Amino acid sequence: MELAPRSCPVPRWLLLFPLLLGLSVGAVINLPAEEAKEVWGYVTVRKDAHMFWWLYYTTNSYKNFLELPLIMWLQGGPGGSGTGFGNFEEIGPLNSDLKPRRTTWLQAASLLFVDNPVGTGFSYVNTSDAYAKDLAVVASDMMVFLKTFFDSHSEFQTVPFYIFSESYGGKMAAGISLELYKAVKQGTIKCNFSGVALGDSWISPVDSVLSWGPYLYSMSLLDDVGLAEVSAIAEKVLAAVNSGHYKEATELWSEAESIVEKNADNVNFYNILTKSTPNLAMESSLEFMPIHMPIHMPTHLRRLSQRHVRRLHQGTLSQLMNGPIRKKLQIIPQDVSWGGQSSYVFTNMEEDFMKPVIIFVDALLEAGINVTVYNGQLDLVVDTMGQEAWLRKLKWPGLSQFSQQRWKALYSDPKSSETSAFVKSYKNLCFFWILGAGHMVPSDRGDMALKMMKLVTQQEGLGKQAEPWRQTQERATDAGAVGNVAHP
Ligand SMILES: *[C@@H]1O[C@H](CO)[C@@H](O)[C@H](O)[C@H]1NC(C)=O
Ligand SMILES: *[C@@H]1O[C@H](CO)[C@@H](O)[C@H](O)[C@H]1NC(C)=O
Ligand SMILES: *[C@@H]1O[C@H](CO)[C@@H](O)[C@H](O)[C@H]1NC(C)=O
Repeated sequence: MELAPRSCPVPRWLLLFPLLLGLSVGAVINLPAEEAKEVWGYVTVRKDAHMFWWLYYTTNSYKNFLELPLIMWLQGGPGGSGTGFGNFEEIGPLNSDLKPRRTTWLQAASLLFVDNPVGTGFSYVNTSDAYAKDLAVVASDMMVFLKTFFDSHSEFQTVPFYIFSESYGGKMAAGISLELYKAVKQGTIKCNFSGVALGDSWISPVDSVLSWGPYLYSMSLLDDVGLAEVSAIAEKVLAAVNSGHYKEATELWSEAESIVEKNADNVNFYNILTKSTPNLAMESSLEFMPIHMPIHMPTHLRRLSQRHVRRLHQGTLSQLMNGPIRKKLQIIPQDVSWGGQSSYVFTNMEEDFMKPVIIFVDALLEAGINVTVYNGQLDLVVDTMGQEAWLRKLKWPGLSQFSQQRWKALYSDPKSSETSAFVKSYKNLCFFWILGAGHMVPSDRGDMALKMMKLVTQQEGLGKQAEPWRQTQERATDAGAVGNVAHP
């Protein structure tokens, strides 16, 4: 795979014009897959705080980038890298073997990966007090970045702009979306903000931990003894959150994870049908911790960082990012390594970690912003039961109407009867239950994730809502149906 930076002064769709005029459509389809046009850079968002971003223009053969949405992807952790993990393990044009990804979102959108908060991925800080310590700083840093981005790429100002996110990225996306909404209204940032999608998101961490017991129990991963232990520690987390002791809540959360691991034979928090391998733990302690972990880091933070940040920096991805990719990018400072500051990003957010942001989601809904929530069926760390629990706490007036809607089954392969997801929507809230996926939905269910993205960005419609007993017949015509997410 060609790794040299490449610029394309003429939009690709213009190059296709002679072909479209002179040849049949079939000839266009047979063209070799085009490489994406890409640009990247740093934005200094605060003194000593530098944010790395990487933009790919859509590779769609029929529509140019002005006719398709721009999607910003926010990774979790905090400290997980979108330019690395999201790009090469989830939705970017190439996988971590640098082979084309069949289900890349680039075929239907342009993609903007941003390593945030600063210190994540190739982003870096010069002084240790420049790390973000709470969501307010994360969001204001992002406003500086987005203003710079849309000012210097004014061609994207009218393009529908969506934020998609995963895990802690969802919590950040909620805060960022609210600030972006205000900035657009005030005219300080010029962009066509069109919606936010919260994937397996850290909106209300305590609602996740409270549902771990019942969820694992129902899946034969806890017995009565285990259920009692997990429920007891979950109650302690709840008490700490309710009394505003967020650091303590973070510590208890870590303890809850250990209790789950002990009882469920090291079940993988990111997909309960798999197991955490001892290799991962060893790799963490041998290769990562002594170099990158603060020496005096408390054990529970060490453990949390290992589980939730280190995971996103496994050997092969780290070698790719710190090897060929960094060479290709050319602008990474010599002493900055990809992931080198990520543990610090995580520990600096320690006090923010367990804070819920349900009120931000309420504010987004109130403001009329399209909010999508999507969740993988096999995720434990942010399990679907927990997501539904915080959803029920919304004060948004449309909630009861939303709840009364009948959900609709979705099939990522129109020729298959295998159910890929369920979806429900009312006004500007939409919820996707993604079957067979764990925490990283696009990694586990690439086809369904792509379809969901097209539905959210209004490139596909849900069609008429079929009566349950007629769904089988109607399924065949689903592919050509028109309509939208709001009015199934
Ligand atoms: C900030 O850090 C980068 C990367 O380590 C380095 O190249 C740069 O010179 C530093 N800037 C200052 C002002 O220290
Ligand atoms: C935002 O995008 C939509 C869909 O393409 C378009 O109809 C609308 O005019 C755009 N708005 C702005 C302000 O550019
Ligand atoms: C927002 O959602 C509504 C309801 O699904 C839909 O009609 C509208 O087109 C969406 N707007 C955008 C910009 O995606």
